[in-house]
Amino acid sequence: MTLATWMTALLLTLGDGAIPAQSAESSSRPPAAAVAQAAQPAPAASPGTAQPLSGPSILRGLALTVEGNQLGRLGGDGPPRSALPQAFIDSVRKALTQAGSKDEAALQSLRATFPVSGADIYRLNCRSCHGPAGAGKPPAIASIIGPARALSPAQHEAVMKAAGSQANPELARQLALHAEEVLRERLAKGGIKPNLPYLETMPPFAYLSDQEVVVLADYLKELGGVVNKGTAVQKVNQSAMRIGEQVVRGTCRICHDATGMSGGHALMMAGLIPALGNLPEQMSLDAVVHKVRHGWTSMAGMARPASRMPIFAYLSDEEVAAAYLYLAYLPPQQAR
Ligand code: HEC
Ligand code: HEC
Repeated sequence: MTLATWMTALLLTLGDGAIPAQSAESSSRPPAAAVAQAAQPAPAASPGTAQPLSGPSILRGLALTVEGNQLGRLGGDGPPRSALPQAFIDSVRKALTQAGSKDEAALQSLRATFPVSGADIYRLNCRSCHGPAGAGKPPAIASIIGPARALSPAQHEAVMKAAGSQANPELARQLALHAEEVLRERLAKGGIKPNLPYLETMPPFAYLSDQEVVVLADYLKELGGVVNKGTAVQKVNQSAMRIGEQVVRGTCRICHDATGMSGGHALMMAGLIPALGNLPEQMSLDAVVHKVRHGWTSMAGMARPASRMPIFAYLSDEEVAAAYLYLAYLPPQQAR
């Protein structure tokens, strides 16, 4: 059975005809407060458990526009694709058949857990900026290959030998541990230019739990080529709700605010970017999935400005559906 069949069962379908509530001005220069707020580390609300999204988009927080930079645009359309287990697909589909009533059963399906590998965590949280192979686009978006290789003690030993000195296993181990510390610090607090607006800076990923980072680091070594492909085998238990949250926080949130402007045709024509909080009410699941995975094509015959949103073909239908369900069941909240 295709996902579309399941989608027709979904009752959260209200169309996308709403008129934007705010004027075009709200999308121009971000208020200083938004910049300051984005520079703060994200609140440490129990990492690993799904929490409602809040706050401005990452671009807005950095006072960048969608046109002027590559943040969120480097994911490409090639492999690797989703390696999430069938249990994930099952829980999304089950939740969709139950979603109309927003009942406990749907929530239960969304909270059921299954094992997830670092490759998927990377794809959902890092790939849109650093690319499928981790190369980024220097100088603005650094490659992660160097820091990824530094996670391997064997790599440090090899460097020592290549430099003509004796391999020192204990020192190599210390260096690898230090590299992992640096990575954790970056994910908790964000990039190296956090207080300078108008520059590409990596946002914090404080929502990732310790275990998620362990599994992610395992995969980074694979990307760095310091372990063989397929040897990153550690997994972490995740729910469909959590996967949806990662799609949103790791990807959509780069350009979309959590709350604020609503969607709709008039807004699209004005070139504004709708807030994520309004999507479940204003667009059908199937329209959102189509927009994300293939670009916009519905409303046939209507003149449209060229889409400024990249196509995320490397996300699966169910992953985008999980993002939609996350937004519907844990609606974004106004930043305090
Ligand atoms: C919104 C875009 C964006 C996303 C998503 C993103 N990064 Fe970054 N990252 C950057 C930018 C920009 C830089 C370079 C500037 C800086 O350090 O802040 C960077 C730099 C880095 C560096 C440092 C590279 C070096 O040479 O020191 C590492 C490591 C890194 N990112 C890891 C990650 C991981 C792991 C993830 C996923 C959890 C991730 N990034 C997600 C934008 C992003
Ligand atoms: C790199 C920036 C960027 C990222 C990342 C991004 N979007 Fe968008 N999105 C836009 C822009 C810009 C628009 C305005 C319409 C257009 O130009 O396509 C838009 C429009 C949309 C629309 C159409 C709204 C309407 O009213 O018609 C949907 C739905 C949407 N985005 C969902 C998502 C989801 C879900 C994600 C995460 C998987 C995401 N976007 C990630 C930039 C982005």
